[in-house]
Amino acid sequence: MKLFDVYPINNINITRGQGSLVYDAQDTEYLDMYGGHAVISIGHTHPHYVKRLEDQLHKLGFYSNSIEIPIQKELAEKLGKVSGKEDYQLFLCNSGAEANENALKLASFYNGKKKVIAFSKSFHGRTSLAVAVTDNPKIVAPINETENVIFLPWADEAALEDAFKNNEISSVIIEGIQGVGGIQVAPEGFLQKIRSLCDQYNAVFIADSVQCGYGRTGKFFSHDFAGVDADIYSMAKGMGNGFPVGGIIISPKIQPAYGMLGTTFGGNHLACAAGLAVLETIEQDNLLQNAAEVGGYLIKELNKLEQVKEVRGRGLMIGIELPEELAHARKELLNKHHIFTGEAKPNVIRLLPALNLTKAHADRFLEAFVNVLNQ
Ligand SMILES: Cc1ncc(COP(=O)(O)O)c(C=O)c1O
Repeated sequence: MKLFDVYPINNINITRGQGSLVYDAQDTEYLDMYGGHAVISIGHTHPHYVKRLEDQLHKLGFYSNSIEIPIQKELAEKLGKVSGKEDYQLFLCNSGAEANENALKLASFYNGKKKVIAFSKSFHGRTSLAVAVTDNPKIVAPINETENVIFLPWADEAALEDAFKNNEISSVIIEGIQGVGGIQVAPEGFLQKIRSLCDQYNAVFIADSVQCGYGRTGKFFSHDFAGVDADIYSMAKGMGNGFPVGGIIISPKIQPAYGMLGTTFGGNHLACAAGLAVLETIEQDNLLQNAAEVGGYLIKELNKLEQVKEVRGRGLMIGIELPEELAHARKELLNKHHIFTGEAKPNVIRLLPALNLTKAHADRFLEAFVNVLNQ
């Protein structure tokens, strides 16, 4: 049997990793400024993470959500503490798309309405509702098309106000920093406007934090920079440092009912062990502060480079926009300097490294990047 060929891949076989370094089958070392697509939050094979998972695996890997699972409550408590949203409720699932799917559905259960506002260049996942609120017609199949989604221009307050006027809006979904869309930071005033319109019209504010959340920007949720609380935050990626874990946290104003949401695998024992290992490490090693400091340093240094068109982002979620003639830079970084980075079209290099990236590794990236720009 062959694999279903949907990924354009690099011809590299990564076989092991440690911290922000990974190694291929020939033992060539690579610097991971991509975090396997913003997934590796506390570094590859972090000893505490390995031990937590190993210990749990020896005890119990899985049992269904039909029984008491104390480790879920432990995870919820720790997440409340580290995120500062202690009065929220946690629902666990397995991926970012699934988290958004549940968030959109829950919003509609809550207020009985159907329409969703999403924004240009948004990416929220590939399952049915998640892809319907994603602004990329190429990945929306005919069966995913719906009249319930209204796409608005990014950060356009007048358009937002106008869309609310018929009082049909169930929810607004927005990334605090658009990832796939090219690292666009949502203006704080715009997030505040969403909050006040959602309050006025009993709509649900969904903060997609799958990529920009979990401490990546230096705050636990990037939406926190606006000083407002969303009603639902969706999470995945960094939550399990590679173990597939997703979830939503839900404001106390939304009440649960049996059967409203559900999943077979979500919140299993191993996933919770991975989730706890991540949060414990974020807390113990002060990783929000590290993300802010090392990310701030990278942004400052990148801003000094005259060949760069624009540097966007916060903390360790950074977009470097390059002119067309430097479109080859990302490939050069990988092939010549053995540095993984992400991309966003057109010509944006995305940096999404582990939150414990060291300044020395940041400098190694900067040196290689300057070399590529000056060739
Ligand atoms: C902002 C955002 N939301 C949702 C998703 C979907 O997550 P997953 O691929 O885990 O379904 C992604 C994935 O890149 C994302 O960046």
